[in-house]
Amino acid sequence: MTTPFEVVTERVRAAWNAEVDYQPLAQQSVLTSELQVQAAAVRWGDRVLDVAAGTGNTALAAARRGAVVTATDFSPVGLERAVRRAAAEGVTIDTEVADAQQLPFEDGSFDVVLSTFGVMYAPDQQRAADELLRVCRPGGRIGLVSWCLTGLMADLQSALGAVLPPPPPGVPSPHRWGTEQHYKELFGDRIAVTSADVLTQDTFAESAQAQVAAMLTHLPPWRMLFDRLDPKGQSAMAAAAEGAYERANRAIDGTLLAGSQYLRIVATAL
Ligand SMILES: C[S@@+](CC[C@H](N)C(=O)[O-])C[C@H]1O[C@@H](n2cnc3c(N)ncnc32)[C@H](O)[C@@H]1O
Repeated sequence: MTTPFEVVTERVRAAWNAEVDYQPLAQQSVLTSELQVQAAAVRWGDRVLDVAAGTGNTALAAARRGAVVTATDFSPVGLERAVRRAAAEGVTIDTEVADAQQLPFEDGSFDVVLSTFGVMYAPDQQRAADELLRVCRPGGRIGLVSWCLTGLMADLQSALGAVLPPPPPGVPSPHRWGTEQHYKELFGDRIAVTSADVLTQDTFAESAQAQVAAMLTHLPPWRMLFDRLDPKGQSAMAAAAEGAYERANRAIDGTLLAGSQYLRIVATAL
């Protein structure tokens, strides 16, 4: 029998396997990846794994420091882009198509295991956490960045929740990864948290409308949902998202400047 975890994994995989160009959105979080790699103290020669790496922001940030980087994702589409980006910069990364819930690496293969807005979307959160820990060597670092369900993200979720079908029952919210308490539940005393910071990633766009149009075009899960709606549903989804961005907008010049909070955790694997 198919479990809710398998249903969601396949749905998310199908969305990210579509030929959708995610890079215009990924570039909005380049700074977050650079800061994450710095926080995790990635150094020359470290063996680094970037889980759910997408188009490679974090993998590339680690490779620029001279780390030996493997980028994994269950969709090859983003990884192909990551390889092209690496080549353009003259750095090297290895890639491997892999589900975060079942990583194809030996125990203790990496000095540093990172994921940026990635592993949070694997529905079997305990299994994903166990895999991150398993492939990290004892004494190595785990560094994760996950959206908090606060401010703009909370507003977006409730605005979209009013117009979209509910998620399947039995699958925990990805935003649980945005609370420090969740790490205690998932990892217990198997890690020692060395830093836990709630930070803000700012999004800049021509307008709230332009940002939502970019997300409906370039964010595969949003695009998949949008494409399945009738024209009335599509207008409702776009209007709900635009409303949330407008409410979060701090710009006073007619453009968009909106912050979203994320939790950045760095921990030592014990
Ligand atoms: C929001 S993107 C973030 C990509 C990248 N880490 C970044 O910072 O730009 C989420 C990524 O997670 C990947 N993903 C989601 N669930 C996954 C899973 N169970 N296993 C592997 N990759 C997964 C998607 O394919 C996508 O590339």
